[in-house]
Amino acid sequence: MRLKGKVAVVTGGARGLGEAMCKLFAEEGARVIACDMGEAQNKHDNVEFYKLNVTNVEECKAFFDYAVAKYGKLDVLVNNAGITRDAMTKKMTDDMWNAVIDVNLKGVFNLTRHIGPHMEETGGGSIINISSVVGEYGNIGQANYAATKAGVIGLSKTWAKEFARKGVQVRCNAIAPGYIMTDILKTVPQELLDKFAASTMLGRLGQPEEIAKVALFLASDEASYVTGALISANGGMRL
Ligand SMILES: NC(=O)c1ccc[n+]([C@@H]2O[C@H](COP(=O)([O-])OP(=O)(O)OC[C@H]3O[C@@H](n4cnc5c(N)ncnc54)[C@H](O)[C@@H]3O)[C@@H](O)[C@H]2O)c1
Repeated sequence: MRLKGKVAVVTGGARGLGEAMCKLFAEEGARVIACDMGEAQNKHDNVEFYKLNVTNVEECKAFFDYAVAKYGKLDVLVNNAGITRDAMTKKMTDDMWNAVIDVNLKGVFNLTRHIGPHMEETGGGSIINISSVVGEYGNIGQANYAATKAGVIGLSKTWAKEFARKGVQVRCNAIAPGYIMTDILKTVPQELLDKFAASTMLGRLGQPEEIAKVALFLASDEASYVTGALISANGGMRL
């Protein structure tokens, strides 16, 4: 029960990594709000589903007001919602570029601009931004995605400084997962996935639960002296 008494918000909580985090956090005693613009794939005890498009500024403010009114203090925020729109740079359209920036970067800002200061005022909290191995090393055909995933590392380090500047125990960290078996990999050809698996030291792709456990650590008081950090969870991969 490492999150007993805590309230956690997880964006992109309807499926994939976000769903695995919601489920694990709730099993560890948290009350969880899963925010997603899509439908929840499964129901989990102590996980409330809230329909939210993280790119919508007004919706994010309305969600924040709702969550504080209903739950009081918000202790954990995982900025996990993310998309890909892959193409080589010379073929990448404005729409592809803007869509990925909007969700993966602006979406992260849209909620944290409310929840970060709220944690500062209420005395502490843990913000976790989901980056990617692609943000650390870059990747062919993913200029938009790589830019956002490198961007959230900068955001994490900035917020770790900004929200703790009055000595308040607000922590902010990033996780950079490698290739994890979720729907986001649907469009990646199997032979490429096999190549990615072979390029890891562990010789396999990851499972959503393996990233959820890293997020659980960062969300919990076990990580009370961890902030401004990037945890790479990629099976020992180098792109
Ligand atoms: N799976 C991987 O291999 C991998 C690797 C590195 C990083 N990541 C990152 O992990 C996060 C989760 O990815 P996943 O693999 O679970 O993907 P996924 O596609 O299975 O789930 C993403 C979720 O985000 C939601 N979402 C998308 N746009 C949204 C929006 N505007 N507002 C609210 N919700 C929105 C989707 O509806 C979906 O439920 C993403 O940020 C992704 O970039 C994934």
